[in-house]
Amino acid sequence: MTRKACVIGWPISHSRSPIIHGYWLERYGIDGAYERIAVPPDDLPSFFKSLGEKGYVGCNVTLPHKEGAFRAVRVADAATTRLGVVNTVFHRDGELWGTSTDGEGFLANLSDHVPDWQAKDRSVVILGAGGAARAIVGALLDAGCRRLLVVNRTLARAEELRRDFGPRVEPRQWMDVEKLLEDADLLVNTTSLGMSGQPRLALDLDHLPRSAVVTDIVYTPLETDLLIRARARGNVVVPGLGMLLHQAVRGFELWFGHRPEVTVELHDLVARDIDPGFKR
Ligand SMILES: NC(=O)c1ccc[n+]([C@@H]2O[C@H](COP(=O)([O-])OP(=O)(O)OC[C@H]3O[C@@H](n4cnc5c(N)ncnc54)[C@H](OP(=O)(O)O)[C@@H]3O)[C@@H](O)[C@H]2O)c1
Repeated sequence: MTRKACVIGWPISHSRSPIIHGYWLERYGIDGAYERIAVPPDDLPSFFKSLGEKGYVGCNVTLPHKEGAFRAVRVADAATTRLGVVNTVFHRDGELWGTSTDGEGFLANLSDHVPDWQAKDRSVVILGAGGAARAIVGALLDAGCRRLLVVNRTLARAEELRRDFGPRVEPRQWMDVEKLLEDADLLVNTTSLGMSGQPRLALDLDHLPRSAVVTDIVYTPLETDLLIRARARGNVVVPGLGMLLHQAVRGFELWFGHRPEVTVELHDLVARDIDPGFKR
């Protein structure tokens, strides 16, 4: 029987998950389907109640449903409980379970691009304190980072991260950001600044050590202005698209029983969907 999974959101037309899972289904010759379903917020509880009856083995969850999904399912692990959001839902023993895969997607992307880089004992500057930052803070702390300076326009959100994740998280004012770069081993942009259609990320990199790795989780454009400037001054850079690809791995494995590979071919397929002029 054809196994079906889907991605839900409101709206959902922008999601690239069907390209990713469709590629893997074809590559591994699996009799499966992956659909895109628009679910209005009020319909979320009934959608989850009938997910199994409709023949779905699970789903990905995107905005604005990640918190709603967290409340609707059994949470599969302590790291996800701490985050309070779920992006991957699956059936197990007649029940719906949920987990979050953004943190592992972030770390796997980093390790793809900079295999020798270890988080242990490193000092990190994270720009932003939204949903994605939460997952990344959790993953970097679990990987052993020494300190995480979280710089956010709204300081209260960075302070919330310290409350939830403990003293290795240090909230900082946005106006101090350039000086804070002095001690960074890794700089991560998790704000939407620099994304197509959003204001640019105006950040002077003069204080950043040349040895620091710079990553931006924004992937439209594929290479942000931050990455272009960091690369030009000699920093190793890690674009954000790989995080999207790697966060999809565990869901596919849970639903279709095969751990898929993030290949160059998959990267380029999605990159061309974002930018038809993309060339390697
Ligand atoms: N590569 C991937 O797989 C992946 C995964 C998830 C998200 N993303 C991308 O990451 C970005 C953030 O996503 P999210 O879910 O964390 O969003 P979010 O929860 O809405 O958080 C947005 C963050 O950006 C900051 N921000 C927005 N506009 C700003 C401005 N004009 N000046 C300064 N700061 C500003 C916000 O600061 P305030 O708290 O002050 O509002 C907040 O820290 C999006 O571009 C998203 O597409 C990528």
